[in-house]
Amino acid sequence: MAFEFCMALFLSVWSMARSDQVPEGVLHMECRDRYLMIAVDLSFAGMEPSFDAIDQTGVYPITEQYAAKCGYSVTVHPLLGLVELRASYFSCHTDNKDDDVFTFHFNLSAYHEGKKVTYALTKTCSPSLPWSPREVTCEINYMEVSVRSKITCHSGTKKDDWNALKPVLAHSSTTSDWQVMFQRAGEQMAPMKLSQARTQGYGFDLTNGRLVFRAPYGQPESFSTEVNGVPVEMVHATVFSRQRWTVVMVDLVAACSMHEGSHDNRGFVMWKTPELLYPSVNSTQIIVGLNGERNEWPVAEEKGYIVERENDTVHISIPYNAEGGYRKSFVTGGLYEFYIFHLYFEQIFVDDDHVETALRIHRTLVTPLLPWLLFTDNQTVLEDRVFTVYLGNVPEDIALASVQLNGQDFMVPFLNTSSYTIIQAVQPNNTHSYTLKVPFDDPIVIQQVSKEDAVIHYRLDINYTLNVEFLNEPYYHLASIVAWSPDVSSPAFDAACSESGISFKLDHRPFDYLWEISVGADLLTSELAAQHGYILSNDSQSLLLDVPLFTHGYQYNNVTLKGFVAFFEILVRNHETSEVQTAVKTCPFISNELIMCSTDGQMTVVVDLSLAIPSGGSPGRTSLKDNKCGPKEADGTRALFSFPVNSCGSTIKLGKDNVTYQNAILYNEPVSGDATEIMVARCTYPLASLHRLFLLYKFESDTAGVGSIIHTAQSTTGVQSPIIKPKAALQTIPATEGPARKFIPSKPAVHPPARYIKVSRIHSFPRGFGEGPERFSQTKMNRVQKHF
Ligand SMILES: *[C@@H]1O[C@H](CO)[C@@H](O)[C@H](O)[C@H]1NC(C)=O
Ligand SMILES: *[C@@H]1O[C@H](CO)[C@@H](O)[C@H](O)[C@H]1NC(C)=O
Ligand SMILES: *[C@@H]1O[C@H](CO)[C@@H](O)[C@H](O)[C@H]1NC(C)=O
Ligand SMILES: *[C@@H]1O[C@H](CO)[C@@H](O)[C@H](O)[C@H]1NC(C)=O
Ligand SMILES: *[C@@H]1O[C@H](CO)[C@@H](O)[C@H](O)[C@H]1NC(C)=O
Ligand SMILES: *[C@@H]1O[C@H](CO)[C@@H](O)[C@H](O)[C@H]1NC(C)=O
Ligand SMILES: *[C@@H]1O[C@H](CO)[C@@H](O)[C@H](O)[C@H]1NC(C)=O
Ligand SMILES: *[C@@H]1O[C@H](CO)[C@@H](O)[C@H](O)[C@H]1NC(C)=O
Ligand SMILES: *[C@@H]1O[C@H](CO)[C@@H](O)[C@H](O)[C@H]1NC(C)=O
Ligand SMILES: *[C@@H]1O[C@H](CO)[C@@H](O)[C@H](O)[C@H]1NC(C)=O
Repeated sequence: MAFEFCMALFLSVWSMARSDQVPEGVLHMECRDRYLMIAVDLSFAGMEPSFDAIDQTGVYPITEQYAAKCGYSVTVHPLLGLVELRASYFSCHTDNKDDDVFTFHFNLSAYHEGKKVTYALTKTCSPSLPWSPREVTCEINYMEVSVRSKITCHSGTKKDDWNALKPVLAHSSTTSDWQVMFQRAGEQMAPMKLSQARTQGYGFDLTNGRLVFRAPYGQPESFSTEVNGVPVEMVHATVFSRQRWTVVMVDLVAACSMHEGSHDNRGFVMWKTPELLYPSVNSTQIIVGLNGERNEWPVAEEKGYIVERENDTVHISIPYNAEGGYRKSFVTGGLYEFYIFHLYFEQIFVDDDHVETALRIHRTLVTPLLPWLLFTDNQTVLEDRVFTVYLGNVPEDIALASVQLNGQDFMVPFLNTSSYTIIQAVQPNNTHSYTLKVPFDDPIVIQQVSKEDAVIHYRLDINYTLNVEFLNEPYYHLASIVAWSPDVSSPAFDAACSESGISFKLDHRPFDYLWEISVGADLLTSELAAQHGYILSNDSQSLLLDVPLFTHGYQYNNVTLKGFVAFFEILVRNHETSEVQTAVKTCPFISNELIMCSTDGQMTVVVDLSLAIPSGGSPGRTSLKDNKCGPKEADGTRALFSFPVNSCGSTIKLGKDNVTYQNAILYNEPVSGDATEIMVARCTYPLASLHRLFLLYKFESDTAGVGSIIHTAQSTTGVQSPIIKPKAALQTIPATEGPARKFIPSKPAVHPPARYIKVSRIHSFPRGFGEGPERFSQTKMNRVQKHF
């Protein structure tokens, strides 16, 4: 006793001094009714953890064989990520104080990066339940029976056995130490010394109050049978000792249901045991649970277990989703799930002598692999032009590691800068989902133009890489989404105002050929560009079109002395659907002089009078031939007239093919009232284009007229007024009337449509792209005029 005390003291000092400590959270030690349970995370313990049992006498590695003999069960659950040690209270190296206080010392050896590290584990337990006269434990690797050692052969042994032993005892009359004799299917075997039985894997122990016997499964002395159709393994040992003139003998019987469990398609795993494995007078008490939890019958039923008695068997059915069960995903060719249950079953038998037997069974039940399906749902909304793909039914133990989009790998979560997103959501049924979004127009998306139905196929092949907890092999889930976008959007032009006109730019897209580009009724080709003086450049990247002012296709509006606006329209027509889109750009320009002969017969003239009227004379004193027709607008040097071609004293000259309307600008002397003709303005229309003039009092021409201004008057200062040669100065813009107008959906309001314009000096101010109209500066105007 003194020695034991010293050792205990030594041990406790020793454990205080230990250097390696198991970190929080990875170790779980719990005293259960008849055993100590230790669970350690494999992430900490490594894949090959080992335990040593330690007592005063030494260090005992818990090998498989040693465990079964000595009351230990070690199970590594790689799929659950833990190693579990169950140690019986009667295990070999446990310090037992009066069958009431049990102290365990273990060392756990783990390998960290190839280095062995040892951790000391110590725990003291006191069972909460009193010991029954006979206790049988069917562990996963051994059967253990303990009986109160006060029990004499009278109550522990049947009369027949007692008689059967007599001849044996007679022959070994000298035996004084303990011996054991096995019975196998009613057959007695030769007795052997306990020491010999121990070498054959059996365990015997005599505690303060109990005799303990332990046998691994499958020993030659044990036998397998069937009871009520349930496989049962049984070991029957009679331990005896002749002490002087008395023989002490104890019968030790352990019988265990070896049923491995079965499953059905109701979502239950079912396990059976014979109802009366031990003699009993009345119906027996049953306790069942998972992981050592003890639920009495009604509680078990509440938890969804089904406990039935049928054909003298107890059937325990546990629902797959029972609390305490483990669900695992598994990958082998496909995705599967299975369930593991650590079943604990307890039954109390009371025989006709009112002697109680407590039977405790530990069984690991595993369901077969059950196919598990992930699903992808195409939640793409075409209008958003974004693939939205939902991956659902992902179990908790599976996580998305990466995705392959059309063959290109991306880790998830995506980089902050990525245009893709993935959102994880947790569902109430212990699954989660991932929603992936990839824009149609992203370069990763495969676009295919279908010429037949004029649509674009956007294609996204997804290969999800899913990692299953504790498994090395990932699972790949494939999805292929194709979206058909019927609205092949029209090419989008960029446009900008420049000094000399308007520039259009179009970046090519693969399906742009579905659209044809035209100016008015004419397709835009390099020939057309050359014909009209447009500057067209077209490479594989983009198309550039510079349209100089006053070239074919321009329209003009809001002519004032300050300037005018010109706009140019490009039509984009889908030749499959005939859908037409327009690209219109309006720019402000400045011109010192101009003449416009519109199709509705309106002549608009801006003239510079600075050289034609006497110095100090006012442009406001000018008029047309009919002096009631004064300028609409006048400033220090210029005047604007706008009038119907055949009014205000115009003369009409009919040619062979055309008609010319001519008027003159007169300067009216302030004092004398004399009028001096200083300029001639005329508009010539082709006769063929005129419809109405001679039928109705309404002018209507298919084409605009050609205008010219002729400076006729000499300056009163004697300075020769420059005569602008009409041919040289005129900018001729052919008409754009025609079928093209039919598909102009939103034509800007133009009153009247101007077709021809004559300009002496042009200055434009680029507008647009953030610049305001304030760029029309007075200084620039002055400079222009001076220059003129
Ligand atoms: C048990 O583990 C402790 C702590 O690592 C160590 O100090 C001790 O030496 C180990 N004992 C044996 C017998 O290995
Ligand atoms: C079974 O018998 C024992 C001992 O006689 C008694 O304590 C127990 O209540 C009985 N159980 C039932 C269900 O009858
Ligand atoms: C019970 O035993 C009978 C007769 O052997 C058999 O027909 C029946 O199927 C058994 N019931 C169950 C649930 O095993
Ligand atoms: C879990 O819930 C999600 C969302 O409601 C559903 O799509 C999925 O099918 C459910 N999975 C199971 C196994 O019930
Ligand atoms: C993403 O990048 C922005 C800008 O660099 C930063 O402000 C933001 O915190 C980043 N977000 C994440 C989740 O990293
Ligand atoms: C999915 O991705 C994995 C890993 O990149 C690859 O091994 C596998 O072949 C891919 N599957 C398909 C069908 O592309
Ligand atoms: C995905 O959804 C889009 C938009 O609803 C639809 O156009 C497309 O046909 C769908 N693709 C597949 C493969 O189901
Ligand atoms: C411009 O070039 C592209 C190919 O580079 C061609 O498809 C297109 O017809 C060309 N457009 C014009 C107006 O020449
Ligand atoms: C013409 O001027 C009017 C009035 O100033 C203005 O409302 C209109 O938008 C202008 N038209 C264009 C094409 O600039
Ligand atoms: C008008 O017609 C005549 C005769 O055909 C032609 O010579 C002249 O060039 C035409 N004028 C204009 C401005 O078209």
